Amino acid sequence: MHVVPQDLAGRLRRARHVAVLTGSGISAESGVPTFRDAQTGLWAKYRPEELATPEAFAREPKLVWQWYAWRREIVARAEPNAGHRAIVALAARVPRLTLITQNVDGLHQRAGSTDVIEFHGNLARSTCSREGIVTEPPDGDEVPPRCPRCGAYLRPDVVWFGEMIPPPAMTRAFDAAQSCDIFLSVGTSSLVYPAAALAEAAHAAGACVVEINPERTPHSHFAAHLLAGPAGEMLPALLAAVADAARTAISERDA
Ligand code: OAD
Repeated sequence: MHVVPQDLAGRLRRARHVAVLTGSGISAESGVPTFRDAQTGLWAKYRPEELATPEAFAREPKLVWQWYAWRREIVARAEPNAGHRAIVALAARVPRLTLITQNVDGLHQRAGSTDVIEFHGNLARSTCSREGIVTEPPDGDEVPPRCPRCGAYLRPDVVWFGEMIPPPAMTRAFDAAQSCDIFLSVGTSSLVYPAAALAEAAHAAGACVVEINPERTPHSHFAAHLLAGPAGEMLPALLAAVADAARTAISERDA
């Protein structure tokens, strides 16, 4: 396969710090719908942007909780794919890799990635909507369940439109974007800020930005390389190309 340009493979082999930003496209091959895919079944009449807001939860807490419960079930049935696994393997090959994900599905962690920066939270966790404390939902049929301490509704521990990114995630992600040599933007439409500003910050700081996505995005014009295909194929191809580049470098050194 020649989808990976040699200069990119060489650059990645020599990189000291690689930052990776993933979006829902990386989990598409695991069967998790992307954010901007049309919704199916019961949810076809809603747009995710209309459900993922504090206003929607205030107005219709049951509906919003049930939508997240549905997504939680899809994620529980899904398995990490070759793209998630290639990032684990890449982290073992480079001196430093920072993984930032907009996904709330936990599939990177299940693939074996550690220290993942969860930019938009994780739907496996719930928090108290009043106190903001991560809380295990109590047993019972109430939807949404209530906080055992204060009685307020629990909500998924995700970032909704109009809410702040958790400050530690924000700081660590921008530090990584501004200090990496290579920034891989994988499976994201690059439409939602501030996550979309990470690639822009990396580019402005002189990093080589690589986009992995079957479609063009508003960032494609400044990416040094576009790997136009599914992440489950492109990331393993990138990994194989780096391994090849490393072998070539060793044999040239020994020649
Ligand atoms: P989107 O649904 O906006 O974009 C998914 C991207 O993945 C698109 O650019 C697709 O072309 C691409 N894609 C689809 N299949 C792919 C594959 N197999 N391999 C690689 N790429 C593929 O999802 P996000 O960019 O993740 O935020 O959305 C960003 C944020 O917007 C989400 O985290 C969520 C949403 O609103 C919040 O809820 C706050």
